[in-house]
Amino acid sequence: MKKFFIAIMLVLVPVVASANTAGPHLDKMTPDPANKESLQRGMKTFVNYCLGCHTASFQRYARSAEDLGMPPELVQEHLIFGDVKVGEQMTNAMVKTDAAAWFGNPPPDLTLETRLRGEDWVYTYLRSFYKDPARPWGVNNVVFPDVGMPNILEGLQGEQVSHCTKAELLEHVKTIDPLTGLQMGGCLSIAKKGSLSAEEFDKTIYDLVNYMSYMGNPVKLESQAIGYKVLIFLFIFFFFAYALKKEYWKDVH
Ligand code: HEC
Repeated sequence: MKKFFIAIMLVLVPVVASANTAGPHLDKMTPDPANKESLQRGMKTFVNYCLGCHTASFQRYARSAEDLGMPPELVQEHLIFGDVKVGEQMTNAMVKTDAAAWFGNPPPDLTLETRLRGEDWVYTYLRSFYKDPARPWGVNNVVFPDVGMPNILEGLQGEQVSHCTKAELLEHVKTIDPLTGLQMGGCLSIAKKGSLSAEEFDKTIYDLVNYMSYMGNPVKLESQAIGYKVLIFLFIFFFFAYALKKEYWKDVH
């Protein structure tokens, strides 16, 4: 028995160790798949700002429309650009090899991005671009150093600058906290204002990541609801199964 416990402890060690890996601090965001308004705003930002380069090829416009409670005609009219039908997948016309030549790396498909990196990572990533003239697009990123993506949302966020070295930025003790508007963990601040305030920008990114999180697992709400029903069923079924067991075994001594 003792050996068994030691084995279990050994199995758990890597889990504990990987939870402790150093890296830039990630701001927390808790997705809310029940908040349809937030998801709708997120989808709007996604199709307007991201779909030009990235795809979400495992998601169809019509599926989003249905899950987010939007009439498909409205989605067709306002959220779909070009000659694309509402039943089609959310793709674009960018050729991968061209994109790789332009950006160094082609923009990856984002349907499952939050499953790959986690919501906190994507939420922090989109808010932590900062000015770096040494990079081809003039920007760098705290959680994805030397990223090939330009800061698409600069017009909204404003121009963010860093007061720290790259090594300091990577230290996990530094926090990025745009809610204060100016001091972001002492490292980042807004040098030129964008069209949104820091709070509004955070909210826009929250909605966007909330939508990306929905795309990564569109059946989450449904499976949670079914999960509760299954548990209630199992609870009630237990009494019947127990009564049946008593009946079967009552003559066995
Ligand atoms: C101008 C084209 C372009 C636009 C528009 C764009 N991106 Fe990107 N994005 C890229 C490229 C290129 C990469 C790959 C960068 C690399 O690997 O160095 C990337 C990478 C990413 C990554 C990291 C992927 C990974 O490796 O895990 C995320 C997340 C992301 N983009 C999200 C977004 C979101 C959200 C939007 C919309 C607000 C957006 N992007 C708009 C070009 C773009």
